[in-house]
Amino acid sequence: MNVSKRIQLLPEHIIDQIKAGEVIERPSSLIKEILENSLDAGASSINLNIVENGLSLISIEDNGKGIASEDLPLAFCRHATSKISRFEDVYRLHSFGFRGEALASIASISKLTCESSHQKNKSVIKIEGGETKSHTHLGEQESSGTKIYIKDLFYNTPVRMKFIQSSKAEKNQIQKIIKSFLLANPKVEFKISWDNLDKEIYPAHTHSNAQDNFLARLSDVLNFKREDLVWSENVYDGIQCKVVLSKHSNRGNAHKNHFLFINNRYVQDIQLHKIVLNSAKSLWPEGETGHYVVYLNLPSDEIDVNVHPSKTKIKFFTPPKVFSMVSGTINHLMATQIQPQKESGLQNTSNQDSLLETQREVNYRNFEFNSDNKMQSYFENLHGQEQTQLTSAIESEINLPSFLLFKRNDQSYCLHKQKFYSYHLAFILNQKSINEETIPLMVSRPIKITGKNAKHNEEFLSQLGFEIDFIAEDSALLRTFPKQIQHYPYLAFIAEQLNKKKINGFNDLSFAFLEDFEMGQHLLMECLKQFSLTELLDEKIIVQLTDRNLSQLYE
Ligand SMILES: Nc1ncnc2c1ncn2[C@@H]1O[C@H](COP(=O)(O)OP(=O)(O)OP(=O)(O)O)[C@@H](O)[C@H]1O
Ligand SMILES: [Mg+2]
Repeated sequence: MNVSKRIQLLPEHIIDQIKAGEVIERPSSLIKEILENSLDAGASSINLNIVENGLSLISIEDNGKGIASEDLPLAFCRHATSKISRFEDVYRLHSFGFRGEALASIASISKLTCESSHQKNKSVIKIEGGETKSHTHLGEQESSGTKIYIKDLFYNTPVRMKFIQSSKAEKNQIQKIIKSFLLANPKVEFKISWDNLDKEIYPAHTHSNAQDNFLARLSDVLNFKREDLVWSENVYDGIQCKVVLSKHSNRGNAHKNHFLFINNRYVQDIQLHKIVLNSAKSLWPEGETGHYVVYLNLPSDEIDVNVHPSKTKIKFFTPPKVFSMVSGTINHLMATQIQPQKESGLQNTSNQDSLLETQREVNYRNFEFNSDNKMQSYFENLHGQEQTQLTSAIESEINLPSFLLFKRNDQSYCLHKQKFYSYHLAFILNQKSINEETIPLMVSRPIKITGKNAKHNEEFLSQLGFEIDFIAEDSALLRTFPKQIQHYPYLAFIAEQLNKKKINGFNDLSFAFLEDFEMGQHLLMECLKQFSLTELLDEKIIVQLTDRNLSQLYE
């Protein structure tokens, strides 16, 4: 390897290329950034053209306020932004952008031309691989707006290019991003064309009633009839929550039309996702989910969007309030608009067990998230798990490779280690939403994809806190994993789940990879404390050893 012996500062354009990877991982993230810029500029009409999934050309044209001629070169410099001027502004955001990084990143890994007109002043800039080739003033132009042509994306970062091979996966991702902008901005007209084919036109919906606009756009985008959707909205303590649910469920592509917007920003939040699905559960057949779109608006000092470079993760400063708002709005919707179905469900319940089950569901739906303790117990109940402890201490254990023999209150027991690992793993994964913490992998490790169901299974796994990126038809990268599973071989776990038959629920997870796994004794004892002896006896993970069993060992 050719390694320079002296420490030296990297030239700016190389720093930009390296840093670009944080913001522009793939064409879909680029599209997200430029759409956000057009909306931040107040555009009411946006024209987007994507060729070869963005790798050969992405062009955008908007009628926003434009960029002043003398500022145009600055727009492509790192940390140059017109959107914030002090750090505190990050907590008072009224724009999507604030880092001043997107255009610099894009320009460093493509060949770009940007033409912009602001207050009658028009100029054009050409940049290649971060190097400005020309900047020309074009004189006066009546209308304001910006056009950007981005050609040959990643041409100078071939390694990154190699990671983007699966055109189907990339197209899906781009479609999802575009859909999110369409759904959140019904008043903006969008014209989208793929590979220079006919434009898909989404007209602006500008009724005086916001609900009509959202529903009209939703029908355009998701191909739904208005009567197939239910809508409810609620305002409390500065938080506004609008919820749209589909009356029909979708068995297959469960994740596809689940959209959460916070202050018009498309975000992903596992806890809110679970709350929505759980609150709306009785609307859909058992084991299936319908589509939902949730729009939340909160004062900008109630959220922190500065938690991830892609800005798709949000931190709430008062999560109980937000959760309670969302569940409350859906509860109200279910009670007022879906009542008849719920009642018939209760009447049909003949046996005692399922009656209890239904009552428990109703309790969850009426849950108020007004304290952290209650929130904790909500998530515990949500997964039907109670945390109990193996109370009195285990004495004199003998640790064998596959079994743990121990004595407790003068009684001997044997624990089947592998069964316990599977049970424990299922328990912590099931509990994940109590503590949403995920650990990002500093170096993402590739996973070989052998089956056809990987993409489908990824949707379920992402709800458990595993963030997976498909980089080719036959490989994926694990980006984050839930903290609680860190003592287990999570890469083997992910590889196993991605390459198996379709996962349609928690019970479909498999744990064959645990066969070769051995947990240290100290950790094993710690994990054991989370369960009661009775529970593990019931599950046949522990068996009681009688005198006869023991004496047989000597026969
Ligand atoms: N379509 C556009 N119309 C008008 N101005 C634009 C447009 N796109 C970018 N700009 C200007 O260029 C600046 C730099 O854009 P860039 O996307 O790099 O940074 P940002 O939007 O400020 O922050 P972020 O990196 O978080 O997106 C913006 O602050 C804005 O002033
Ligand atoms: Mg931006």
